[in-house]
Amino acid sequence: MNAPDREPASDLWPDPLVSRVPYRVYTDPGLYREELERFFYRGHWCYVGLEAEVPNPGDFKRTMIGERSVILVRAEDGSLAVVENHCAHRGARFCQREFGTAKRFVCPYHQWNYDLKGNLVGVPFRQGFVVEGRKVGGMPPDFDMKAHGLTRLRVQSHNGVVFASFDHGVPDLRDYLGPEVMPWYERVFDGRRLVVLGYSRQRIPGNWKLMQENIKDPYHPGLLHTWFVTFGLWRADQRSQMVLDAHGRHAAMISRRNQGGEGEATRGVASFRQNMKLHDERVLDVVPEPWWNGPTVTMLTLFPSVIVQQQVNSVSTRHIVPRGPGVFDFHWTHFGFADDTPEMTRRRLRQANLFGPAGYVSADDGEVIEMQQQGFVQDPAARTLSELGGRDVGPTDHMVTETLIRGLYRYWRGVMEV
Ligand code: FES
Ligand code: FE2
Repeated sequence: MNAPDREPASDLWPDPLVSRVPYRVYTDPGLYREELERFFYRGHWCYVGLEAEVPNPGDFKRTMIGERSVILVRAEDGSLAVVENHCAHRGARFCQREFGTAKRFVCPYHQWNYDLKGNLVGVPFRQGFVVEGRKVGGMPPDFDMKAHGLTRLRVQSHNGVVFASFDHGVPDLRDYLGPEVMPWYERVFDGRRLVVLGYSRQRIPGNWKLMQENIKDPYHPGLLHTWFVTFGLWRADQRSQMVLDAHGRHAAMISRRNQGGEGEATRGVASFRQNMKLHDERVLDVVPEPWWNGPTVTMLTLFPSVIVQQQVNSVSTRHIVPRGPGVFDFHWTHFGFADDTPEMTRRRLRQANLFGPAGYVSADDGEVIEMQQQGFVQDPAARTLSELGGRDVGPTDHMVTETLIRGLYRYWRGVMEV
């Protein structure tokens, strides 16, 4: 696609290296609009939710793909549909509820109504109306109900997680996720029934890509996060593995925790607090689960819209909802499995205190992303540097690397034709 209103690629990103990202990539409104088109509305699958959120026919969830409001719904026949939330009549975003159960979607403005798959099934006064014995008004005789349904998206779910795309030509979801990352996806989502434990939401004043980068960045957790360093959930001395798909867009950071405490990995690390003690030890009452198969943490970035977190017993999806070049919303869904004991459910919920907007760990990430965005705005001519572990892109068997971030920008440049 041509982008006539954009400056030449050589001016935007003069450096040939993907490891040096111009600050403007995070601040430019025109680039941001193109990203929505090229990543969120075309050629990609975006996360819309868990099947467990819409278990029964008629159940729906309102959510976002990029900046577009959509509705995930379980149709009468049990299948999943995703329709766009604007009326085919005069455009009203008719659904204002987050969740609900419905037989029809009815737009409040003129009460056009749609079945659960988005087909238009009712138009008031379509045949006109009899006033003083005379039929008046009505839609033109050639008005075709079938031509005026809601925008329908392509939908696929895999082991309980639902993705949708405005682009009906997008490759099959399995191929899209790719064989490198799929085993890590299926480690968490192996077909067991999921149970939603709760939600949290936050607005982060930073570019949406920074959240993808944050979970492609194994460099920071053992430095930024006092909690991880001190209690040994994530440190440079852990056995780790970085995996990415053939495009460099999706990735998995995989690691196995050690015992914490002082060691080579804490020497000189400012965030290490030797004397920090928990008032309530249950927050770290970790019980290994058979499906872990070794690693205690796996963080998946499924580009562009979702992160899947397993950090010990806490599991969640984190949905990225961009709202402009300098801000995004972050929707967390904490979940568990239908065969969890009540004790395990409580454990997952307690450990979820590490995550979410005010999480002992995740609050740090929101804050540093905001600090990055502040830096980008103040000097648009500058660029970032991600060269830990070299300048190449590829899998590694350690975490002392920024290879996943380089992979992301190699892909970004390709799709954006920069
Ligand atoms: Fe929806 Fe008129 S805008 S019925
Ligand atoms: Fe972090």
